[in-house]
Parts: sequence; C-alpha cells; structure tokens
Amino acid sequence: MTTSDPVQLMKQEVGKAAAAKVKSDTVVGLGTGSTTAFAIQYIGDRLAAGEIKNIVGIPTSFQAEVLAKKYGIPLTTLDAVDHIDIAIDGADEVDPNKNLIKGGGAAHTREKVVDALAEQFIVVVDEGKMVEKLGSTFLLPVEVIPMAVAPVMRSLEKLGGKPELRMGIRKAGPVVTDQGNLVIDVKFASIDNPAELEKTINNLPGVLENGLFVGVADVILVGKVIDGQVVIEEF
Ligand code: 5RP
Repeated sequence: MTTSDPVQLMKQEVGKAAAAKVKSDTVVGLGTGSTTAFAIQYIGDRLAAGEIKNIVGIPTSFQAEVLAKKYGIPLTTLDAVDHIDIAIDGADEVDPNKNLIKGGGAAHTREKVVDALAEQFIVVVDEGKMVEKLGSTFLLPVEVIPMAVAPVMRSLEKLGGKPELRMGIRKAGPVVTDQGNLVIDVKFASIDNPAELEKTINNLPGVLENGLFVGVADVILVGKVIDGQVVIEEF
C-alpha cells in the first residue's frame, strides 16, 4: 500500500515490525482491526518469501480469518492446538501499565481468549492510542447477549457509566458481533481501577466480555512520526 497519511503509515510500519517477530514453527494469534491487518499481510509476505515456514494462525474474528486466507496463512482452531506462541493485536487505548481498552471492532471477546492464551502478546498501535488513563478517549465496549441488553444497561448506569447500544454503519440497526451478540459502549468519567471494573462488569448476568485487558499485554509496539519519519518504539 502506498499512502502519505501519517496514521496509515504508522499502522503499516508497526504491523510490519510485529510481523518481523514471528518465527517458524509457531502458532500465531491473529488479531482484528486495521493495524493488525498490516501484520497479517506481512506475515503472509514472509511466508510466501520463504523467510518463515510452518506457521498456523488462530483468527480472533471473521475479518482476521478472511485476511489470513487472502494472504496464505494456514489456520487452525483452539481444539487442535494446546498453546499459542505469539499473538499480535491492536488496541483502542494503551496506558503506561500496558493495560488496554479493546473492542473498537466488536471482536474483544474472541481477542481476549486468544491474546490471553498467547505466551507473548504483542500490541500494535499508533501513538494516538497512548493515554495516561484508560477511558479518556474511547468508550468501553461490553458484549452482551441480546435479551439482557436493557438490564445490563441499567446496571452499567448504576456503576456510574453512560451506556449506548452500538449501531451499525452502512447497516440498519445495531452491530451484531461474530458470536451473534450486541455491543454496549460505556462512557465512564474516570476508570480508576481497571482490574476491578473489568471483573465487576463481567459479573453482570448477560455480559459475555468487556474490552478492558488488564495484565494481558507483554510488549507494546508504538508507531510514531518523528521529524517526518515513522519510528517504532517498544515498551
Ligand atoms: C477490535 C479491536 C482492535 O484491535 C482495535 O479496535 C484497534 O483497531 P485499529 O487497529 O483498526 O485501530 O480491539 O475489536
């Protein structure tokens, strides 16, 4: 892809940097979103060039599955393998403790399964995703089974949140996840204790998973533009 858009360039280069970390003979968790899409493309390129071999991917979404097939990455399932060596995934916010908000693509439930299982979970973001405190720029996604939307919304309000049902773009009605559920996006004035909030929300009956990823990420790769050049920082 040729682009001069700095955000796209950061996504592209950080995706490439993550793909470079994939080794032969490994099981690779394939994340969801526009940044991970570049990583999937470059893993496919490395496989095709013979730089790495014997890779199998575990997709975190229908999008990841489609991209893996497009770029020639063989796929497997969690029934067929007992471990994941490395997972690469994007995020909507990253705090200084490597805690994340994910779910911008409504894929956080399967993403958490795969990313948490991986021996090494690498997060790929552009610098716009870095925040001092989670919840500052992005609403917290919560996947809910359809019949429980109203009570879960009331419970989220009692927890101090402002919930809204995520609506489709170029599709009438709400967003339906790959599992056939709905997503409530919640604005919290301040997320002071992400670990506690993650558990509290997941304890509400009808909630499948929320987008707080606490203590899951191992490495954060951040694409930055410095003096007109994209550089990748790792922490
Ligand atoms: C999908 C996600 C994505 O990883 C997150 O939204 C980041 O996406 P992008 O790289 O397109 O900004 O959590 O559920």
